[in-house]
Amino acid sequence: MQTKLCKQLGVDVPIFAFTHCRDVVVEVSKAGGIGVLGAVGFSPAQLKEELDWIDERIGDHIYGVDTAIPQKYEGQGESDPDKLVEMLQAAIPEQHRQFAEKLLSDHGVPAWPEGDDEVTLSFSLAQAQLLVDEALTRPQCRMIVNALGTPPPEIVEQVHKSGRLIGALAGRLKHGINHKKAGLDFIVCQGSEGGGHAGEVTSMILWPQMVEAVAPLPVLAAGGIGSGKQILAAMSMGVEGVWLGSMWLNATEAAAEPAQRDSYMKASSEDTVRSRSFTGKTARMLKNEWTEAWDREDTPDPLPMPLQGYLTFDATRRTHRYAGSGETQKVAFNPVGQVVGQINQVESCKDIMMRLMTEYSEALDHITAITPE
Ligand SMILES: Cc1cc2nc3c(=O)[nH]c(=O)nc-3n(C[C@H](O)[C@H](O)[C@H](O)COP(=O)(O)O)c2cc1C
Repeated sequence: MQTKLCKQLGVDVPIFAFTHCRDVVVEVSKAGGIGVLGAVGFSPAQLKEELDWIDERIGDHIYGVDTAIPQKYEGQGESDPDKLVEMLQAAIPEQHRQFAEKLLSDHGVPAWPEGDDEVTLSFSLAQAQLLVDEALTRPQCRMIVNALGTPPPEIVEQVHKSGRLIGALAGRLKHGINHKKAGLDFIVCQGSEGGGHAGEVTSMILWPQMVEAVAPLPVLAAGGIGSGKQILAAMSMGVEGVWLGSMWLNATEAAAEPAQRDSYMKASSEDTVRSRSFTGKTARMLKNEWTEAWDREDTPDPLPMPLQGYLTFDATRRTHRYAGSGETQKVAFNPVGQVVGQINQVESCKDIMMRLMTEYSEALDHITAITPE
């Protein structure tokens, strides 16, 4: 399964695992793929701690770090991270705060304990710059990936000067073309069915169009992959690897609460929705009373990014911490793709990797078997 991009990176298997969980990063990389740590929810100090933990365990294997610098956002241009957060917090209307709080209290979600009020959300260049600086001090971190836009030229130059690769997610062709113009090394092309921020065009349509539009740049296929059959389908369209997010959420090593795991296991592929209700940009997540409440005509509209994220930061952390209490799951933020319908068991990352590779070979054999000479 090794592709040119894998060779360039020195890994055996073109399976990239996006995750917010350090354990998943280490286990996927050890199993021959590449774990990529989503850093958007970490302060620079927290990221340092996570990367120390990874570096102590990952040995000679490599990993990546993912940032989220949107193309456009409120407060763009403010270079002081503290001032930016202050400005954003002040811009959130009281009506929105009350609406969010009522949804939580109506569903019995306990308040966050006093004393830990640090809000860590890095949806800006000023904040992401500090995360990139930290990641680039790590020899085993071999790539930076950016979500939500083309990374600014100074970040591209900094990553390249350090001898690493830089890529970015793209949910539309024009985003991929802009990434290529900016000198990125690869594109992660995410179809609409994927978890997290996603556009309108589905993977089956978008992947082959992207491969053609940005050639010869390597493309990784994201959105809707949870089996080896789906990997083979993606590879047949010319991509050089696959990038999975949802499938790791229920892995043994993932930091998921039992109630969250239960939500993933019960959900079918019809139970997700693209909603602006948590981050302000359209993201795919489990449909619930929270997503429906923000969608109604008579309720406040979600705020632009990153204001909605700051507004819902408290909801996100409370619904994770108290995932199992009361009716929390009805208002919890559970970003996941339509592939959630294929999450039916708890597997270790190593087993998921083995299963994906075995299924891939079986699917290849199947094609040979059904196409006699
Ligand atoms: C829980 C969750 C959180 C995500 N957060 C981010 C993020 O912070 N940055 C990013 O680049 N992609 C993020 N994504 C998108 C993934 O990187 C990936 O493209 C997507 O999950 C692929 O589709 P799949 O969910 O069908 O595997 C997230 C996905 C999920 C499921």
